[in-house]
Amino acid sequence: MEPDTQTRAVGVIGWPVEHSLSPAMHNAALREMGLNWVYLAFAVEPELVGEAVRGVRGLRLVGLNVTIPHKSAVIDHLDEIDDTAAALEAVNTIVLQPDGLLVGHNTDAPGFIRSVQEAGHDVSGMRVAVIGAGGASRSIAYACATSGASAISIINRTPLRAERVAEMVREAADFDALDAGPLDGEFAQEAVTRADLVVDCTSVGMYPHHDVEPVISPQWLRPGQVVVDLTYNPIDTAILKAARAVGADTVDGAGMLVHQGAISLQHWSGQEPPVETMRAALLEQLGAR
Ligand code: ATR
Repeated sequence: MEPDTQTRAVGVIGWPVEHSLSPAMHNAALREMGLNWVYLAFAVEPELVGEAVRGVRGLRLVGLNVTIPHKSAVIDHLDEIDDTAAALEAVNTIVLQPDGLLVGHNTDAPGFIRSVQEAGHDVSGMRVAVIGAGGASRSIAYACATSGASAISIINRTPLRAERVAEMVREAADFDALDAGPLDGEFAQEAVTRADLVVDCTSVGMYPHHDVEPVISPQWLRPGQVVVDLTYNPIDTAILKAARAVGADTVDGAGMLVHQGAISLQHWSGQEPPVETMRAALLEQLGAR
């Protein structure tokens, strides 16, 4: 539908933001849901993030998604944030409520859990190996700790960063079955081999560096495991190929991206978003690159 005087805007703020896949994914969903909204990408300089957030109320936007580097900075400008956003100190979704309050949510963590559920698996009771120690790793480790995982190992090239993620999750999720260690050597081999769920949160294999070796030895993987790579460009990565080759089940990086977006859209609309339409729009956009 063409924008008219009733059209409301929603969008994503980031810096830079021009490569965001969210507009394609959300606009496809909005069309199918019949909502007279338009989803835009707003390039917001870090110094102006407060003004951008205040603009949500001023312009009566539906809300915003928030991406790098603003996920923590927006918090000071919101009226409330949910427990996950508080634990991770990261908001990726802002909702302008009917009462005028600006509320921040984190849908990355629940989006990850839903992507694993969609593939037919339950994180509850699983031993998890999280590889990487950036923002994505924090979200995934926290999501698993609060979804009933039995044990979590954080593995990273720089072990000190892995220890920091473990410390954050221990405190925020009150979860003790956690250890951390380096990527090379026995710690990583044991943690990955033992794991029911292996999640690659590193940037290894991300465009334009596709075709590289997986971040871990393929020999550590085994049948019956679930292996997730958060990298979605390319969609089929070296670790996913290696996992399939040994008979493990795989979940690609589009899963979390689609579900974090779907949960945002659910917060804004109160309706169940068309997940398959969002995934198709995302894959089409990726194919076009
Ligand atoms: P994000 O916030 O998006 O999760 P990030 O903070 O850029 O990402 O983290 C990237 C992750 O990929 C880090 O865990 C990084 O390891 P270091 O902490 O040691 O830097 C990991 N990573 C990047 N390139 C890597 C490589 N070639 N081998 C192993 N790990 C790598």
